[in-house]
Amino acid sequence: MSFTKRYVSGLNPSSAKGLHLGNYLGAVKQHVEFQDQGEGFFFIANLHALNSIFDRATFDTNTHNTYLDFLALGLDPAKCTFYIESDIPAIPYLQTILNNCVTVGEMKRMHAYKDKLQGDTDPDTINMGLFNYPILMAADILVFNPDSVPVGKDQQQHVEICREMAKTFNNRYGKTFKEPEAYIKKEAAAVLGTDGERKMSKTLGNDITIFADEKVIYKQVMGTITDRNRIHPTDPGDPAKNVLFSYMRFLNFDAAKLADYEAKYRAGTIGDVQIKKDFYEHFLNYFAAQRQKRAELVANPDYVTKVRAEAAAQANAIANQMLERVKLAVGIKSA
Ligand code: ADP
Ligand code: TRP
Repeated sequence: MSFTKRYVSGLNPSSAKGLHLGNYLGAVKQHVEFQDQGEGFFFIANLHALNSIFDRATFDTNTHNTYLDFLALGLDPAKCTFYIESDIPAIPYLQTILNNCVTVGEMKRMHAYKDKLQGDTDPDTINMGLFNYPILMAADILVFNPDSVPVGKDQQQHVEICREMAKTFNNRYGKTFKEPEAYIKKEAAAVLGTDGERKMSKTLGNDITIFADEKVIYKQVMGTITDRNRIHPTDPGDPAKNVLFSYMRFLNFDAAKLADYEAKYRAGTIGDVQIKKDFYEHFLNYFAAQRQKRAELVANPDYVTKVRAEAAAQANAIANQMLERVKLAVGIKSA
């Protein structure tokens, strides 16, 4: 009998801008590859977004738009189960149970919480949704009992605490959950932003958004900070300090042409503007089919509604089974 690996991964739809290059290289691209390798459960983590979006229209639009972004980028409903977290009631139910498998001390060590504490934020003002989010994330994962959780490096700690919760649960109630492993793709663990310094992130405004209007993308690319020591196009530059070269590599820019550009950059015989313009063209070409697909999805709302409903039905069938096992294990249901 062959063994098929099961994968679970989600993306928080907290941005109205849509997915950026870092999301694509660090997360979505792998999801799209994983759907061919095993049994993929991918979702829009909209319950997570409730800790940062307090406006109903924004919440709804972001959830829907991110769902479309993913479909356009190649998640195929025929190959994987691609659903929206809030369509799966077993997730928050399981979270309530998992609340008891982790301590306040362990939770305080989580990034999501610690990041918020930077600066002079008073810990007492952090909302419980944010504080608890690793528990919701553990419920997202364990309700499908996967083998592996493909995520960016920043999420590794959250997957580890999920394993700990699974272990605690299993020790208490008998083996129920697998202890899933994080899968971190090394090369694209952290894509730098257009400031050339920090991780690309929608909140830092150093991102290149995949489905934005061409004018917006042009502005983002042209605003990229390259080698700061280079004032004139004739100054020798350091290709390692021009983040566009790394984007080109990630997006399969012609290798010979890239090597030539890098040599010219070192010699000071090519300008940054030229490189930016070439990268902009390449970016639009690379994502042309996906941008076209997204426009088609927008034009076919009935199709999207149907895909979403079918995925929810598939996911609920599995999640509810798991929840039944959990209820039996803890005694909510009698055998
Ligand atoms: P953001 O940092 O823009 O708020 P999210 O936290 O919503 O993005 O990240 C969603 C997914 O994309 C996660 O799996 C995360 O690890 C991945 N990701 C986000 N930014 C990057 C990046 N710059 N490089 C690699 N992966 C990233
Ligand atoms: N917390 C993840 C992020 O911010 C998104 C997420 C929510 C997730 N639930 C998950 C990822 C379950 C993997 C598995 O990117």
